[in-house]
Amino acid sequence: MAKMKKLIIGNWKMNPATLSEAKLIFSGIKKSASSLSKIETIICTPSLYLTALVAASKGSKVTIGAQDAFYQSSGPFTGLLSPEMVRSAGADYVIIGHSERRAEGDTDEIINKKILAALHAGLTVIFCVGEKERSHDGHFLEFVKRQIYMGLQGVSKKLLARVFIAYEPVWAIGAEDAILPRDLHQMKIYIHKVIGEFFGPGLPLKVPVIYGGAVHPENAEVILKAGEVDGLLVGRESLDAKRFGMILSIANSLK
Ligand code: PGA
Repeated sequence: MAKMKKLIIGNWKMNPATLSEAKLIFSGIKKSASSLSKIETIICTPSLYLTALVAASKGSKVTIGAQDAFYQSSGPFTGLLSPEMVRSAGADYVIIGHSERRAEGDTDEIINKKILAALHAGLTVIFCVGEKERSHDGHFLEFVKRQIYMGLQGVSKKLLARVFIAYEPVWAIGAEDAILPRDLHQMKIYIHKVIGEFFGPGLPLKVPVIYGGAVHPENAEVILKAGEVDGLLVGRESLDAKRFGMILSIANSLK
């Protein structure tokens, strides 16, 4: 079986300030990705830039995603975007359940509805989970399990083929240091176990588990190698085309 390509995803959040800056960063990333064949590069941009960056991505090795989408297809929902709109803009991916959206009121129930709607619209979902803090009693394990169980209610085994789990401990997002690779590896095994229990026997695939939170060129290799994750979700460093390009090359060079 062919080895799965590492998924390196940039989450630009509410950046950069202008479309011209966005195009500039994107063209740098495109250039870096152009010669790399062992990774999949995905950039999740502010929705306003989707159309332009989808156009700019044509013929390149980079694909485009959104950072959120609502669960209704249309209607009186001022300010929101439907997954169909995101899809029709040409995006293939959407992040759902990022801790910054959870902090703005997305509950597990809302996230579940968004995941189902996005999957039905044909998008691949980058489903974010992660504890706010770690205590010695292991409570965070139950916390993440609940997020996964709630988020994946009603998702069929077939649709699960279009879900990535992004494990992002909230305490590492925007922080200086990422999780210890040993702890990440344990978490990856745990997440696979939780998904296996949730879906029962006969799961045809292994859901990719990627890591996010304070990833940079200096720790990308150890996170991917010792953490044994299937990819990275990169915030701040994805806005610096040069440094993000370094992360892409590191991921591409791993055996
Ligand atoms: P960070 O953000 O890389 O800036 O820590 C990661 C994320 O929020 O996805």
